[in-house]
Amino acid sequence: MHGSMRFGVLKPVAERAERRGASQDPLENLMFAVEPFSGTKEEMYEELLRQAKGLLEGERDMIANAANVSALIWQIVPDLNWAGFYFMKGGALVLGPFQGKPACVRISVGKGVCGTAVSTRATMLVEDVHAFPGHIACDAASNAELVVPLTKGGRVLGVLDLDSPSLRRFDAVDQRGFEQLVAFLVAATDFDVR
Ligand code: SME
Repeated sequence: MHGSMRFGVLKPVAERAERRGASQDPLENLMFAVEPFSGTKEEMYEELLRQAKGLLEGERDMIANAANVSALIWQIVPDLNWAGFYFMKGGALVLGPFQGKPACVRISVGKGVCGTAVSTRATMLVEDVHAFPGHIACDAASNAELVVPLTKGGRVLGVLDLDSPSLRRFDAVDQRGFEQLVAFLVAATDFDVR
């Protein structure tokens, strides 16, 4: 059912550190190139998780890890026009690190697809955002949306929001892939949310 697809793979680039006078520490001296790769969608999500584990190794900062995960998604997963985070602050969702066009900053719990993912504590898979009552349009290009809540010990920390210009872009494979990525991010990060 899920045929082969093309997606990018990030490969660390060996640097001429000595010429630049840069640090020899690989964690202080990271450069990546995106190389094309063909495989199934399941393989793409395995690759995404594998790369996230490498990228976050040794770092637990919330902003750094969310920023790198949103950039990783943006480089690897095709057909998205927005990918990023909202974190809980003062009882509402506030915009966090993301890739895509500038977006609305604050979303109340229960509002839009993101706020509904918080109030229901469940992933929201929306095939057509125009058919979702209360959808908040940040980018007119968005037609489908997937929102995965970040939860720890029964508490909602925020959400991962993915938008696509393609109707019915997301299916159960995408949902499982992003839920696994979010579970890893939550375990690997110290969240400073209120
Ligand atoms: N569409 C979202 C709002 C956030 S933007 O898509 C980045 C919603 O309805 O909650």
